[in-house]
Amino acid sequence: MENNTEQIKKVIFSGIQPSGDLTLGNYLGALKNWVKLQDDYDTFYCIVDLHAITVKQEPKNLRRRTLELLAIYIAAGIDPEKNTMFIQSHVPAHSEAAWLLNCNTYVGELSRMTQYKDKSSKYGNSISAGLLNYPVLMVADILLYQADLVPVGKDQKQHLELTRDIADRFNKAYSHTFKIPEPYIPENGTKIMDLQEPNKKMSKSSDNPNSFILMMDPPDIIRKKIARAVTDSIGEVKYSDEQPGVKNLMTILGALTGASMEQLEQKYLGQGYAQFKKDVAEAIVAELEPIQNKVKDLLENKTYLEEIYKKGAEKANYVAIKTLRKMQKKIGLIQK
Ligand code: TYM
Repeated sequence: MENNTEQIKKVIFSGIQPSGDLTLGNYLGALKNWVKLQDDYDTFYCIVDLHAITVKQEPKNLRRRTLELLAIYIAAGIDPEKNTMFIQSHVPAHSEAAWLLNCNTYVGELSRMTQYKDKSSKYGNSISAGLLNYPVLMVADILLYQADLVPVGKDQKQHLELTRDIADRFNKAYSHTFKIPEPYIPENGTKIMDLQEPNKKMSKSSDNPNSFILMMDPPDIIRKKIARAVTDSIGEVKYSDEQPGVKNLMTILGALTGASMEQLEQKYLGQGYAQFKKDVAEAIVAELEPIQNKVKDLLENKTYLEEIYKKGAEKANYVAIKTLRKMQKKIGLIQK
């Protein structure tokens, strides 16, 4: 009986790069939602280290961040018994499938990707070919697991559209091989904005530390950053495009407490921003502090983390290789 239920569960795949310290944006846009899905889906949550190296990484930082990211997944509530958590480079099928898919992708499609355009304007001529091909590796990640749903923040929507296009193209060229995945972008918290320039997305690559909250920021730093967050001179807590700073803080508070934007407008009616900002800061601290303590404990127990990523890679490898073999065969590569 239990086996039957297992078989009909839909598949979820998602990942986060260990390329910098995680922000509140990563948490609210991705991680927090993953936790909610773990009982109803067959979930694969990956630490995408091969994506991280598309920009230069200090080897020892990459190692530290990869393990820390696994600890954050677990501390945020992703249960190792119910989910497959693994490190992307431990499953070679990802790189192999990415090559096969690269040969079915147009350079024009890749150079049109917003993230590529943003990054290439930042890095100029020293941009790696990996950064251009980056979305194809993401396509491989998703398609190898025949994922039904991919929970991500809004900024990844374009990459998901590309995934669907490439899957469909491959299916048409070589007969049905891949399930066409759907993005899963919930209503609230899927685009957390920069605290200093609220028209930009909150990002770990920003140069100004006051513009983001890190998942591992100590409570006092969180309080200071929220106190310094840019608002406006209107003085009303209102969910309006004219007040992007306030709108963003409301989004954060709503995503953390479950309150609707109308409820928040009512609650702070006529009160200015002081109490509102304090409440935002305390809601963040209340959510992140217990996670931070668990992360610290988990990082003391490297053997436990190792057990989880090894078990994860084994399970992921088993699933991924089946799809990879199918792809190779359809393309005309001779089986070993
Ligand atoms: P990455 O590592 O940039 O971000 C991880 C997740 O966090 C979400 N996110 C945000 N959500 C809301 N507000 C923000 N300010 C914010 N910043 C980031 C992202 O949407 C993402 O869900 N290419 C991906 C990683 C990846 C992946 C995959 C995701 C690789 N393979 C396969 C899904 C499926 C990336 O760079 O995410």
